[in-house]
Amino acid sequence: MRRKLVAGNWKMHGLRAQLGEVEAIAAAAAANRQVDVALCVPFTLIAAAVAVAGDMPIGAQDVHEADQGAHTGNISAAMLREAGATLTIVGHSERRADQHETSHDAWAKAAAAHRRGLRVILCCGETEAEHNAGRAERIVQSQIEKSLPDGASPDWLTLAYEPRWAIGTGRTPSLDQIEAIHAIARAKLRMMVGDAADGIRILYGGSVTAANAEAILAVDNVDGALVGGASLTADKFVPIVEAAA
Ligand code: G3P
Repeated sequence: MRRKLVAGNWKMHGLRAQLGEVEAIAAAAAANRQVDVALCVPFTLIAAAVAVAGDMPIGAQDVHEADQGAHTGNISAAMLREAGATLTIVGHSERRADQHETSHDAWAKAAAAHRRGLRVILCCGETEAEHNAGRAERIVQSQIEKSLPDGASPDWLTLAYEPRWAIGTGRTPSLDQIEAIHAIARAKLRMMVGDAADGIRILYGGSVTAANAEAILAVDNVDGALVGGASLTADKFVPIVEAAA
């Protein structure tokens, strides 16, 4: 039985003025012990968020694949650990689009994060053009094949399916489409890691809100949600956590 995980991705939002939201979300997490809750905040907010988050995990949104070196502007897994992060997102579609990251990059980042003891949320998902061309399933399979790190296990790896065209748009795939892709992702994981695949959580992400969370979270093989816009304030995020509980 996989416990649900509801993770917030604050993207490039969040100053110290928003720490009250972290605190309120952490309080809701503590009150809903049947579900795991985590927040991935900007690098600059990690230490301050950890200080108010109690035992709710605080994560990053990216990590560099090297432990240290001449990589101006980048952050290593050891630095994230030192700041108090316990997990990181890798391979988010906004980084694939804005920083031209590939599935191979996501693979290297996930491996580096794991080496340093971070848990990983590994993202995959097709573009709108790929969706319209009926290629979503093949794209997701290929992204998983290229980015899943060796030794992936439920202890430290979570997969997130985020169709790019559903991110921040208010549009979501039908429940049948979500079910079909999650089933395919599960099958791909099984081919790659055997029985461990049954324990690996697969989150859905893309315009999850309090209004659609319950239905999406009830879909087979949807083990939680990765939430962007609706994770920025407790009043929008907590009902999603409650829907998962
Ligand atoms: O990583 C979460 C994400 O990309 C979904 O964003 O704003 O559509 O919930 P949003």
